[in-house]
Parts: sequence; structure tokens; C-alpha cells
Amino acid sequence: MTNDISKVLISEQELDNLVTKLANQINLDYNGKELVLIGLLKGSVVFMTDLIRKINLPCTIDFISVSSYGDSTESTGRVKINFDVSQSVAGKHVVIVEDIIDSGNTISYMLKYFDGKGAESVKICTLLDKPDRRVADIEVDYSGTIIPDEFVVGYGLDYAEKYRNLPYVGILNPNVYS
Ligand code: IMP
Ligand code: MG
Repeated sequence: MTNDISKVLISEQELDNLVTKLANQINLDYNGKELVLIGLLKGSVVFMTDLIRKINLPCTIDFISVSSYGDSTESTGRVKINFDVSQSVAGKHVVIVEDIIDSGNTISYMLKYFDGKGAESVKICTLLDKPDRRVADIEVDYSGTIIPDEFVVGYGLDYAEKYRNLPYVGILNPNVYS
């Protein structure tokens, strides 16, 4: 499997540092507020479980499943909700937890979605930000790190549902998908 990875981009230790940085920022900003962390399945799962263990505020977690990519490496621009959160977000402070923001279409849709459900505030926390191919006009509130325009996998991120279990983030060898 590791032959499919052309380069380790972010090591386990570096990931831990990024997650700690993001959790510290959230801990400061949401002190005294009712916080709901909403993970976008499935890519955010590994990041989410690490992040919440570093959040020291009362909070709840939830998940929503959306798809935009199918098995390709480029955004279709369409977002479909496969299943929804299990609680009302009305009056609550929502932080959407995402593995990576590429075109921004997914997160732009989610911002409007939770806003429309009456959330008190909606912010974005992404582990990785790939701004080169950004289409949507969005502001990323919490960003772990900016990465170049390469297709990456591991630490929850997949290609065709595989590689999510790698403990690091690596660049997928293009010969896997071309
Ligand atoms: P966007 O709607 O184009 O911003 O895409 C966001 C979603 O596309 C993310 O939640 C990922 O699931 C997926 N995605 C974008 N870039 C990558 C990548 O480099 N590796 C794995 N998944 C990616
Ligand atoms: Mg994905």
C-alpha cells in the first residue's frame, strides 16, 4: 500500500501539533458558549476524534454525511446530503469539522445549510486547506495548514474509500488514479 504514496506530506507528529493548535484556538474562542462540533463524514473522522480530546469546553458532537466527489479526484460541484445531524442546531454555535477544503463547494453549501437551520453562528475548522482550486467565496476560520494542489490521502482522507487508515497524510502517486 505504501508504494502508492509518493511522499509523506505531514507526519504523525506534525499532525498532532496541528490538531493541538486548532483545539487551542477553539478553546479560547468558545469559552462560555454552547458548542456543537459537526464532522463531515467520512473524511473528518480521524481528525475529529483527535480534535475533541483536546477541546476542554463542554460540547456535543454530531456528524453529517454529504458527497460531492464520487470516486474521482475532482469536485463535481454538486453536494448531496446522505444523512443529517441528529440534533437541532438552532441557537447553537456550530463548528463544521472538515478534513480538507479544495473547491470550497462542500463547505459553502454546509455553511448555508446550518445557517438556514437557525444556528447562532457557523464556523469552519479544516485540517487541510488547498486554496489553488478554490471556486467558492468562503472564509476559513480555523485552518491546520495550507497544502499544494496535490491529491492527498491518509488520516481519514481517501481515494475511492481507501487509505483512510494511514496515520500520516501523504501524496497519492498519480499512477494510482490516472
Ligand atoms: P470541495 O467541495 O472541492 O472543497 O471538496 C471537499 C471534499 O473533497 C473534502 O471533504 C474531501 O472529501 C474531498 N477532497 C478534496 N481534495 C482531496 C484530496 O486531496 N484528497 C482526498 N479528498 C479530497
Ligand atoms: Mg472524501
